[in-house]
Amino acid sequence: MTERIHHDGVLVIGAGLAGLTAAMAAAPRKALVLSPTPLNTGCSSAWAQGGMAAALGADDAPALHAADTLAAGAGLCDPAMVEILTREGSDAVRHLADLGAPFDRTEDGAFAQSLEAAHSRARVARVKGDQAGREIMRAMTAATFVSPLISVRAGVRARQLLQDAEGRVRGVLADWKGRLFEITADAVVLATGGLGGLYAVTTTPAELKGEGLGLAALAGAVIADPEFEQFHPTAIDIGQDPAPLATEALRGEGAKLLNAAGVAFMADYHPAAELAPRDVVARAIHAELAAGRGAFLDARTAVGEHFPDEFPAVFAACMSAGIDPRYQVIPVAPACHYHMGGVVTDAVGATTLTGLYAAGECAATGVHGANRLASNSLLEAAVFGARAGAAARDLATPKGKVAVGEALPDLPDAALMDLRRLMTRHAGVVRDAAGLTVLAEAVEAMKARHGEGPILTTAGLVAAGALARRESRGAHYRADFPQPVEPPTRTFVTLPGQQALKVAAE
Ligand code: SIN
Repeated sequence: MTERIHHDGVLVIGAGLAGLTAAMAAAPRKALVLSPTPLNTGCSSAWAQGGMAAALGADDAPALHAADTLAAGAGLCDPAMVEILTREGSDAVRHLADLGAPFDRTEDGAFAQSLEAAHSRARVARVKGDQAGREIMRAMTAATFVSPLISVRAGVRARQLLQDAEGRVRGVLADWKGRLFEITADAVVLATGGLGGLYAVTTTPAELKGEGLGLAALAGAVIADPEFEQFHPTAIDIGQDPAPLATEALRGEGAKLLNAAGVAFMADYHPAAELAPRDVVARAIHAELAAGRGAFLDARTAVGEHFPDEFPAVFAACMSAGIDPRYQVIPVAPACHYHMGGVVTDAVGATTLTGLYAAGECAATGVHGANRLASNSLLEAAVFGARAGAAARDLATPKGKVAVGEALPDLPDAALMDLRRLMTRHAGVVRDAAGLTVLAEAVEAMKARHGEGPILTTAGLVAAGALARRESRGAHYRADFPQPVEPPTRTFVTLPGQQALKVAAE
């Protein structure tokens, strides 16, 4: 019989920046954080290179940051949510600095800020060049461990959301070392990250396969904009899985994109050249690669000898493949990097299911629209993670029985590898109806063979959403529908037949 454990407080699934922030914000209630991997190994937060965008400088203001965020989002951002993000952004950065995140400083002690694509000013607070995620998560983890109110269990994977007769989420069926446990709690915060691991070429930890989104969808939550995946233009193309990132800050410092003939090509695609919006740069590199011309990032002049000090993570990744970026160009290719879609939430992280909150990349707060502005993701995790944790803390204790859980079907490794190849090929930088139909049919065939678990559910939502969106907007580019359709509309979807377990009302 499955063991049942009750946690008297808030249950947080995921231990990236959003999850740990939510856990802290749940105080004075207790928080139990479940992570499938050892802390800071399987979360994108710890890998983030750029930093946190926030209006911290004297030449900046939340309204300017909001305007850039809305412009990047290509008509699909929720302005009210963007206003919250940008207004609360600077305090979120200061809070992390107070916790010990060693943000780079100017000589007079202000935050040093870098320029990234589609920002109208230097606005990204960074840490030791490209170490922002690592150092922020180091500070967060240290603060988590000293908190008497937070417990963390690593190696625990969520396999099903537990619900009661009213559909309220009451906990999770969790797998720990092959044993299943039902963990119930007063409220659950999903902070399970994105879905890069569904793609063969990704910059995110491979463990992030959209499972949180899939679990929420199967429990009946409304999902938004599943078709909007952002492809980072400059993953380092050295055959590693996941692909290491060459941060956009390199282009902010003046690094150029060249083809194999040494010709800078970005000005042919956009007047802002290397600092064009991320989706434009990703498509330009995709086009150069498809045409056989190659794509390389040249930081020899812009960064040169400073590379090891200014961008240690990128330097190490390059050197691991025998490329010295001080003297050599870096081969680059687009890779799945971030999911703008996710579980729909309101301004305090509440999903459409009572008892379930979501924060970070698995959530769709509406701040990213069709294309996330660079370095807004750690910011969103911090701002909305705190809001979700506080709201989950304040939710009334539930009553009544919880259903007995049963693990949803998993996807065997070989099938996952097939899926990843299909996703990169057909739901990648450039999409069309023929490819997306192949993908959607393959996902259905896999569901018939392996059962409808969270991974295939998420992949199916991406394929269906991308097929249904017969336009190009932000990061979603359809070769067969290259223009946007006005007015912009968001996708909101609920699965027709929920597989959630519910007990009959007594
Ligand atoms: C980067 O450093 O280029 C990535 C930052 C981000 O994805 O926001």
